[in-house]
Order: sequence, then C-alpha cells, then structure tokens
Amino acid sequence: MNESKTAIYDEAARVWNPNKVEVFRHYGIDIVLGDRHGYTFTDADGRRLINMHLNGGVFNLGHTNEEVRAALVEGSAHYDAGNHYFPSPVKNALCEELLGVSPDYMRYVAFNNGGGESIDAAVKFARRATGRTRVITVNGAFHGATGIAMEAGSPEMAAFFNMAPDPREYTHVAFDDLDALGEVLELEDTACVLIESIPATLGFPLPHDDYLAGVTELAHRHGALYIADEVQTGLMRSGDMWCAIGYGASPDMIVTGKGLSGGYYPMSAVIMNERAGQWLHEDGFAHLSSFGGSELGCVVATKAVEITARESTAANVEMLTELYAEGLERVRAHHPDFFVGVRQRGVIMGLQTAHPQGATALMAALYTNGVWAMRANFDQSVLQWKAGLLMDRDLARESLEILDVAMGEAAQTLGAGSDAEEISMTGVGASR
Ligand SMILES: Cc1ncc(COP(=O)(O)O)c(C=O)c1O
Repeated sequence: MNESKTAIYDEAARVWNPNKVEVFRHYGIDIVLGDRHGYTFTDADGRRLINMHLNGGVFNLGHTNEEVRAALVEGSAHYDAGNHYFPSPVKNALCEELLGVSPDYMRYVAFNNGGGESIDAAVKFARRATGRTRVITVNGAFHGATGIAMEAGSPEMAAFFNMAPDPREYTHVAFDDLDALGEVLELEDTACVLIESIPATLGFPLPHDDYLAGVTELAHRHGALYIADEVQTGLMRSGDMWCAIGYGASPDMIVTGKGLSGGYYPMSAVIMNERAGQWLHEDGFAHLSSFGGSELGCVVATKAVEITARESTAANVEMLTELYAEGLERVRAHHPDFFVGVRQRGVIMGLQTAHPQGATALMAALYTNGVWAMRANFDQSVLQWKAGLLMDRDLARESLEILDVAMGEAAQTLGAGSDAEEISMTGVGASR
C-alpha cells in the first residue's frame, strides 16, 4: 500500500468504519477510488481496475456516463429537489418512462431514495391492500438494511441489531421451491411474497424456468401480492428490462433502484398495479419521503432508463451474454477442479468454485491482477461477476484473461491451505 492509501485507510479506521477497514486490509484489498470512467477506475496508487462489481448495478451504465452527467449538469441549472407534495413535469416523465418499460397492467410509480426504502414501501402497500401482515421471502435473500427490508432478509443480519422479527409476520422458505411457498400461503394470512428474481447474495442461483410464474399464480390464488425485488436484476441486467417478466411472471409490484441512479443520484421506485396502488386513492399522503421523486433525480433517472431501454443497449447485452458464456467455459476448461460452474442470465453471472471460500481467494487474486469483483456473502464459494450493459468487447475479453490468471492463483492459494478463512463480513456493503 502506498503512503496516501495507508493514511486514508488509517483515518477511515478511526473516524468511519474500523471493522470494514480491518476486513479489507486482511484480504490485501485497499481500494481508494480515483479517476473513473466507463467500467474501469484508477486506484489511488495509480493502478487501473476493471469494475465487475458495479456496486450491484449502480454502475450499470458505467462510471461517469457522459449522457447521464450531461443530464445532471444541465438539469441542475433548472431543477433541485423540488417538492414532494406537488406534481412536476419531470416527475411525470419518469413515471411514464418506467411504466413504458413495464407490463401494460402497471399503473403507478412511487419514488424513494434507495432500494431498501422502496422494499419497505412495497411491503407497506401490500399490507394496506390486503389487510394482512405476513411477508414470505426466501432463505438467503437480501432486500436492504432499512427496517422492513432487514426484517424480511437474513435473520442473522437482523439479529445483529437486536431485531427479532415476529415469526407470524415474516416467514422464509427455500428459493425455487413452490411446494414450500404454497404451504405457507395456505395459512391465508400472507400480505405479500417478496422475491429477488435471482438472489444476488446467495450467488445468483437460477430459478427453474417456471418458478416465478408459479410464484405469481400461488400468491394470487391465496390473495397475496407478489413483489419482485429487481434492485439488482432489473434494468436489463438479465437481458430483459425486468428479470421476473422475462421469466413469464406477473408481479403486482416491481422494485427498482441502484442503476436507476445513473450512478449519480440516489433514486429508487416501486412500480405498482391497481391493487397495490389502492392506498393512493385512500390517502396519498400516507407514504412520503422528502427527497423521494427529487426533480433533479427524476431528470437523471429518466435519462438512465432511456439509455437502458435502447435497442443498441439490448444488442450490446446480447453480445456480452454470448461472449461471457463462451469465454467462461474456456476459462473453466483450464481449471476444471476449482472453477466448477457458471450461473448466467444476461450479464448477471455467478462463478461457482469447488472450495467453500473459493470466491474469497478469487476476489483477492483478481484485485492483484486488475479486476474488482465481490464474492457472494451468503455462499462464499461463489463469485459475483457483474458486467456492465455498455461494456465493450475488448474490455470484456480483458476481464476474462485476468479471470483465467486469478483462477489459477486462487486455486493454488487454497490448495496450499492459506488464509482464506472465513472473516465475518456481515456488513451490508459486503453482501452486495
Ligand atoms: C436485491 C437487493 N434489494 C435491495 C437492496 C437494497 O438497496 P439499497 O442498498 O439501495 O437500500 C439491495 C442492495 O444491495 C439488493 O441487492
């Protein structure tokens, strides 16, 4: 580590987050983001890194995307946060843009600042619409660190903050298991089924093709609403605008965030059908947020959705999907005992290793070789490998070359019984 990074990390250990600093130092990963553009950034020591983490999709369109930045800069001459009480043309425009890329039956959009907040809001809307309280989620899900989102997620993460979700209000079932879901729904007291279409923190296990359509059918048969958490899987990352829709599901609400920000302006949204949006007719003031639907944020997010929805973007995602499918198989053939499986839908990828800490060793080796990628915290044998929608062919190829080298190094490290022991990374940032 060079001096300035040491100083920054030392100070951060004092004034910001001692444990996070300790954990990343332990792995020899000491990133301080410097110049950034597209899908690369320069670490403070001058090294260039390819970003295959994307903050879970915040940088779906790349760092400092020029079109988004222009919208932000131009927009700031005319708009600020606006007023959450009143309509505005730019707020309407973002509603129309999001409804335009969603199923025809969607009717309304509610805005918040981050994904967790919008998950909380969606669950509240479902509870209001059904008069029930139970939320069913899947084991190993992560929906955010706010109140309801955290209660609905991992019980261990909630317990850290002494949150003890009432088992009558929150039930977890196995992912991709319709029988388990049906059993709980038969209690006829469920407000909503909340499912990440492909659970990121579990390492992107892919559902069977008919699972999410089955979730829709079961939820509706038992009077519950289905909320698709598309915070990571939405906005074209799966090759479809919304992953759940691509799987043939019909959620009552779609929650989006991360990439909606264009990488610049925190924005999240709940896209709702008529039933989910019932509260909007009863008391439109019931859910609010000072910055939710910020006018400048709407300008930025509208541009982000517009870029995401372009045909050229879809074509690039298709190119990347094929390039990675072939390239990952090639890399796998070089390391058959260590790199044992690829989970892929679009540019959402989980790389399975044969070692329970395989992805921990891999992320450290990748960092040394010029790629920043993150393990799946709830299954640390799996590396999250997230390519950006607009990434070009050369950079994608370069990421595969580095992956090949890092796979060899990680396999060797673990084979030599080194120190990839589990370190508690319960922090929310570590799970995304
Ligand atoms: C699937 C999923 N849902 C919700 C969230 C929460 O989003 P935020 O951190 O913006 O609150 C995350 C964050 O990582 C996520 O991955």
